[in-house]
Amino acid sequence: MADRFIYTAEDESATRRLGEVLADTLPAGSVVSLIGTLGAGKTCLTSAVARRLGVPEGETASPTFVLIKEYKSGRIPVYHFDTYRLKDSDEFYELGPDEYFDGDGLCFVEWGDRFEEVLPPDRLDIVITVEGPAARRMELVGRGGFPSEVLDAIAAELG
Ligand SMILES: Nc1ncnc2c1ncn2[C@@H]1O[C@H](COP(=O)(O)OP(=O)(O)OP(=O)(O)O)[C@@H](O)[C@H]1O
Ligand SMILES: [Mg+2]
Repeated sequence: MADRFIYTAEDESATRRLGEVLADTLPAGSVVSLIGTLGAGKTCLTSAVARRLGVPEGETASPTFVLIKEYKSGRIPVYHFDTYRLKDSDEFYELGPDEYFDGDGLCFVEWGDRFEEVLPPDRLDIVITVEGPAARRMELVGRGGFPSEVLDAIAAELG
């Protein structure tokens, strides 16, 4: 029973592999906070989750500047929050985030560390560190009541 798991992605396809495993293992209703610098791979990871759930590539590939992107054509809805341009928590609350967090989709929040007070306490944090042009260290940390069996299942798939 673990509350954290470290995954080393040596290239982009390894990041996508993590996304596929997340799509296969995260219970509906999970909230994931993505923490990492510009270009760390937060969007890449989220797109891989949506793709695995059945969202067509065309939908996930288009560049977008919307704050919440909703992918509803897959097995489970995916809500992708890009909070980069939000100034403060009030702006985040104005988007009505609890409706998403309390729902049955999967929520991925880029820059979640800037808005911890808005996020539910039970969630998965993924801290991405850039270690080279294509190398990324990903630390998955279960917070609050995030089920440790899920982390174990992710680790078993990737370990
Ligand atoms: N191992 C890797 N995993 C993910 N992306 C990688 C990896 N190696 C290289 N890249 C490149 O890094 C970039 C990651 O971009 P992405 O948009 O996913 O980052 P981001 O964390 O969402 O950035 P931003 O904060 O600007 O939204 C892409 O250009 C991708 O090709
Ligand atoms: Mg991004």
